[in-house]
Amino acid sequence: MRRVVTIDGPAGAGKSTVARRLADRLGWRFLDTGAMYRAVTLAALRSGIDLTDESSLEGLVESIRVSLPPGEVWLDGQDISDLIRTVEVTEESRHIADSPSVRRRLMEWQRAVANDQDVVSEGRDQGTLVFPDAFVKFYLTASAEERARRRLADYRARGQGEGISLDCVLRDIRQRDARDEARAIAPMRPADDAIQVDSTGMGIEEVVARMAEDVRRARRDADPEAVAAAEVSR
Ligand code: C5P
Repeated sequence: MRRVVTIDGPAGAGKSTVARRLADRLGWRFLDTGAMYRAVTLAALRSGIDLTDESSLEGLVESIRVSLPPGEVWLDGQDISDLIRTVEVTEESRHIADSPSVRRRLMEWQRAVANDQDVVSEGRDQGTLVFPDAFVKFYLTASAEERARRRLADYRARGQGEGISLDCVLRDIRQRDARDEARAIAPMRPADDAIQVDSTGMGIEEVVARMAEDVRRARRDADPEAVAAAEVSR
């Protein structure tokens, strides 16, 4: 297993953007685990199975092929990067996230990605369950109101915001938080050793710079000579 930085936290906290940029800065692989759950959700919707039926979900997740080339999500040979960002997939993904078989399988895929490359991985359970020995763990939050504003802007940028009010997105965010936190399996919570970052009122670059500094400090503590040598040779 190589080095892993985990970024967990609630919906709309900016995890994906921050994790992608942090991964770019470090030269590590970015792993969007929410995209994996979304890909399974799309596959389940397409196949017409009952999304609450555990044995159907178990069969489904064993039969599909999901891959995440940089910046994209593929399902069985098709690029589904945009198709997994719809309101329907977002809404229905909660059933998939509740499935023990799906979680078990996705955990294996996530660990396999970190087998041969350094990874910045974002999700809900990365620091608590999937990578308990991660190099650095973050828990990224922002106020529910700010997260709702960001989500709506995101929908609008994708041409999907029509007819959706801020109140409606806020209600949805609060429901998702409650569900993610109360889930019997893999509930969303900060790992005991996570660094908590509240991004309310902070710009993306500010958050990324802060995290990059925390990672640099951890690398220096782990191997002071290597970091000093890398800085001199730059
Ligand atoms: O983060 P995103 O909105 O893309 O997550 C999609 C779905 O996957 C949500 O329902 C979320 O609760 C779930 N999820 C999860 N565990 C993860 C990542 C996402 O349960 N590690």
